[in-house]
Amino acid sequence: MKIRKAVFPVAGLGTRVLPATKAMPKEMLTIVDKPLIQYVYDEAKEAGIEHFIFVTGRNKGVIEDHFDRMFELDTTLAARGNKKAEQDILARDQPAAGATSFTRQQAPLGLGHAVWCARDIVGDEPFAVVLPDELVLNTPGCLAQMIEAASKLGEKSNVLAVEAVPEDMTHQYGICGVGKRTGKMFEVDGMVEKPAKGTAPSNLSITGRYILQPEIFKILETQERGAGGEIQLTDAMRALANTQKFYGLEFEGERHDCGSKPGFLRANIAYGMARADLRDGLRAEMKKYLEK
Ligand code: G1P
Repeated sequence: MKIRKAVFPVAGLGTRVLPATKAMPKEMLTIVDKPLIQYVYDEAKEAGIEHFIFVTGRNKGVIEDHFDRMFELDTTLAARGNKKAEQDILARDQPAAGATSFTRQQAPLGLGHAVWCARDIVGDEPFAVVLPDELVLNTPGCLAQMIEAASKLGEKSNVLAVEAVPEDMTHQYGICGVGKRTGKMFEVDGMVEKPAKGTAPSNLSITGRYILQPEIFKILETQERGAGGEIQLTDAMRALANTQKFYGLEFEGERHDCGSKPGFLRANIAYGMARADLRDGLRAEMKKYLEK
């Protein structure tokens, strides 16, 4: 199965990182020198995604601007004559014409509802869902690993990126039950969104990467509200698991939850340390703080 399209739900309010997100979308928060949304776009592009679908909301227009050409900036950089490196960065990050779509989730009804808003743009083919507040630092990226794993599975298979979390954090995530295992992959045996403490079927959390079959849309259309009063993707996936296979993949790489303040700070350090041009200076600065 070829995965050509990815859906990025970007309508969330980002309340965990206020006041940064009062007037700015959380997807534009910067890790080192790039907004979160650019990292997940790059990850999807590396994985072979050809069409990038953003489910936005009010106050998110700047995400669309970010993926547009900035005419004044391009012209000014070109006129200065010595800004070739900056021009190259802008060209590198620019999607091809027609490779992006933007639709709006008009009310904050949950992740399941956000994904459903993309149904007509996705159409009748398998697709990826990528949550921009989670970054995975690895080459190949998390989505590329998932697509590689999915290529070895039967038609109509669904794949979830999963990661073990401490038992006392399982209530914050969607959690998978574990069936038959083959290396880093396993058959998912039940899924529950934000299980009450002490009731999780395992400690394997569903992270922000999914490969789904289009039949999920039919289920989402009538999906009742679940945990937190929201239409949950996990609940719709549980229904789809009655007729299709779901697999969990324990991916390679370090996951960063950038939608929380500690996760955001840690990601800046991790991505800074991964950069050859910044590593030594950053290490020297951090050493000073650690010695204080
Ligand atoms: C969403 C999903 C949840 C998943 C999590 C990963 O929850 O509903 O299953 O584990 O993303 O970040 P949210 O973080 O939107 O509450």
